Amino acid sequence: MEFQDVVRRRRMVRTFQPDRPVPPEVLDRILRNATRGPSAGFSQGQAFLVLEGEDLARFWAMRPKGNDVSTAPLLIVPLSCKRVYVDRYAEPDKGWTDRDEARWPVPFWHIDTGMATLLILQTVVDAGLGALYFGIMPDDVPTFRETFGVPEDHEPIGAVAIGYSAEDDGTVTGSPRTRGRRATEDVVHRGKW
Ligand SMILES: Cc1cc2nc3c(=O)[nH]c(=O)nc-3n(C[C@H](O)[C@H](O)[C@H](O)COP(=O)(O)O)c2cc1C
Repeated sequence: MEFQDVVRRRRMVRTFQPDRPVPPEVLDRILRNATRGPSAGFSQGQAFLVLEGEDLARFWAMRPKGNDVSTAPLLIVPLSCKRVYVDRYAEPDKGWTDRDEARWPVPFWHIDTGMATLLILQTVVDAGLGALYFGIMPDDVPTFRETFGVPEDHEPIGAVAIGYSAEDDGTVTGSPRTRGRRATEDVVHRGKW
C-alpha cells in the first residue's frame, strides 16, 4: 500500500472479525516496525507486551468494561521505561549526571513509545487489518502489573487491539462521529503565531 494511503485510511476500528487470527508473519512485521521509531539519545526505552489466546482472556477478565474490541485476537501493550532514558542521558556524551528530571522538556520516554505505537497502527493498516488504541486506566494498572508480571519501572501507555475489521470501510466510529477534523490552516502557524 502507498504510504499516503496508509495515513489516509488509518482510523480506529472497534469491531473485529471473531475467530480470525492475526497471521504470525504480520505480528512479526508489526513488532519489528515498532522498534524502528526514533528515540531520544537512541535510548530505546520501550517494551511491548503481546497478548493472545489465554493470556488475552486474562486481560479482559481484569478489565471487563471491554466492548466489541475484546473480540480482537491480539493485543499489544506498549510500555515506557523512564529509567532507561535517565541512565542513557547520564552517559558522557549527554552528561546529565545529576539525573534531574527538571531537565526533561517533556517526557521523552512517552513521546517515543507513542511514536512506536503509531508505527504499530500504520503497519496494521498496511497489512490490511484494523486496530484500536485505548487507554489503560490508572485503577487498572496495579492489577495489570500483577497479572502479567510487569516491572514497576515500565509504564503501560495504553493498549492496541488488533485484528481483521468487521466494519465497513466507510464506517465512522468513536468521537469522529460527532467531531470534525480540524482544518490544517487552523493548526498550522507559518512564521509566527
Ligand atoms: C492517547 C489516546 C487514547 C485513546 N483512548 C481511547 C479509548 O480509551 N477508547 C477508544 O475507543 N478510543 C480511544 N482513542 C481513539 C481516539 O478516540 C481516536 O483516535 C480519535 O477519535 C480519532 O479517530 P481515528 O483515530 O479513528 O481517526 C484514543 C486515542 C489516543 C491517541
